[in-house]
Amino acid sequence: MFSIRTPLLLCALILSAPAFAGRDTRHDTAMTTLATKAGCLTCHSVHTTSDSSETPIGPAWQDVAARYHGQKGAAAQLAKTVQDGSNPYQAHWKNKATGLAMPPNAVAINKTDTRKLIDWILTLDQ
Ligand code: HEC
Repeated sequence: MFSIRTPLLLCALILSAPAFAGRDTRHDTAMTTLATKAGCLTCHSVHTTSDSSETPIGPAWQDVAARYHGQKGAAAQLAKTVQDGSNPYQAHWKNKATGLAMPPNAVAINKTDTRKLIDWILTLDQ
């Protein structure tokens, strides 16, 4: 069973281990590029800032993840809100956002990419 290949395979596994530890930064880069292209980052920040004088227009995505992560149906609902825009009469990010409502983003990003972004956003509190 043991051949010359076995130790080589083990080495390869050990060397590739760091790539699996922690976040996939390549995926993070792909997602921030997508968000930048779609214009999301003009209103949102990815990470929460502790400086209250810098309250963003839209809630930081880390806060979005903390609020909805693990909630059934949240991803589909959020993706719909991003596509169609939010209702200013149901604004629910007081003190976390200076903007009252999010405009519809369907002109800037399609449904598939929106869902990809949301799925990524919902991992940001990990
Ligand atoms: C013009 C500014 C603006 C842009 C551009 C924008 N947003 Fe928003 N976004 C907001 C505001 C303001 C809110 C908070 C709405 C509220 O209080 O209900 C929000 C809320 C959200 C929420 C939380 C919704 C909820 O129901 O809790 C998500 C997720 C989100 N935005 C993602 C995105 C994504 C993804 C994009 C890019 C495709 C984007 N936003 C583009 C301003 C913006």
